[in-house]
Amino acid sequence: MSDPVPGQQIINDGAVLTDGDRIVAVGERNSVLSNLIPAKADQLIQESVDCGGGLLLPGLIDCHTHLVFAGDRAREFEQRLEGLSYEEISRRGGGIRSTVAATRQSSEETLRLAAYERAARMCANGVTTLEIKSGYGLNLDDEQKMLLVAQSLQDLLPVSVHSTFLGAHAIPEEFLGSSDDYVDLVCEEMLPSVAAQKIANSVDAFCETIAFSNAQIRKVFEKARSLSLPVRLHADQLTNSGGAALAAEFHALSADHLEYADEAGIRALAQSGTVAVLLPGAFYFLNERQCPPVELCREHGVPIALATDYNPGSSPVESLLFVLNMGCVLFGMTPREAVAGVTIHAAKALGYADRGVLAAGMRADFAVFDAETLAHLCYPIGARPAQKVVQAGCQTQLHPHVSV
Ligand code: NIG
Ligand code: FE
Repeated sequence: MSDPVPGQQIINDGAVLTDGDRIVAVGERNSVLSNLIPAKADQLIQESVDCGGGLLLPGLIDCHTHLVFAGDRAREFEQRLEGLSYEEISRRGGGIRSTVAATRQSSEETLRLAAYERAARMCANGVTTLEIKSGYGLNLDDEQKMLLVAQSLQDLLPVSVHSTFLGAHAIPEEFLGSSDDYVDLVCEEMLPSVAAQKIANSVDAFCETIAFSNAQIRKVFEKARSLSLPVRLHADQLTNSGGAALAAEFHALSADHLEYADEAGIRALAQSGTVAVLLPGAFYFLNERQCPPVELCREHGVPIALATDYNPGSSPVESLLFVLNMGCVLFGMTPREAVAGVTIHAAKALGYADRGVLAAGMRADFAVFDAETLAHLCYPIGARPAQKVVQAGCQTQLHPHVSV
């Protein structure tokens, strides 16, 4: 199939040649093999893997998760079914703060075990790069604990982890009524320590009436900039608070959610090269009605990524494949746009130029699916995990008992 967009072409009877953790050549089988000296091809290829006619994609990238947490929010789920809103539950002291209480009480080892199980199931769906945020600790020790757990997962599983410091996620109980003092703590104590320990790759914040104001987030972002940490933002999820424009002002890697973003916000994202990360799991689970401005993103050329937003409160969704389906059904994306959203655009949302595309020089991260076309990949719900996953050039062991 010919396609003018580089990196989005489907090749029938294709092959990928790798060396160590890098791709050396990709294309039609014959042209890939012609890279090798014909007489020596057999000796040069140490291992060949037949993908059985499956659909081989770049390893999937989940660029927005909160998968390190303790406890659950099933009682709040019931409260919402009884008519309470997410915001109201939060104002009554539940929401993020209830997961903070459970996460603070949990040991690093207990958190790691739960996070490991979740991440293993995501890897079985073809995920090879995973962004994981802190934000349920809200003091230095507990934020640090979360970030260390997040980073440790890449030593335990075939996945690269991008860890994000989300100290400005909610106002902790002990700072209710003095949120500026908490912002000062984030800026003066937590951010410098996290930067010095190199335990976060980027900094995120929640810009919303139930969380932090634009002025408070500006302070956090200025501090992050002074520490050379890139930023990203939970923006315009429940109200239009000018979050997209704020993210753009700081050249954020991504602005996430965006249900209430307006045209000025989207135009600002286009100018700053910020990726729009859409999270249909949270939209679905919170039973939202306002769709994010997909058409405006298309018009202004803002790349759209999709992610699970996996967390216990607004998106208990582990499956990035289900997110592909929701991106199409709920947000009107095409299967091609949805798949670009978990590969090439998700890589950009994390600031990576070495993955998300099958091309020479890129990381050898792949996932193979039993699907004929991108539409075949996007339309079933929860049916088929990946058939094969390769991360950094190594085929990974898929554990059927943890696949969804
Ligand atoms: O992305 N919006 C803020 N943060 C998360 C929700 C976290 C939670 O409810 O625990 C989100 O939806
Ligand atoms: Fe989130």
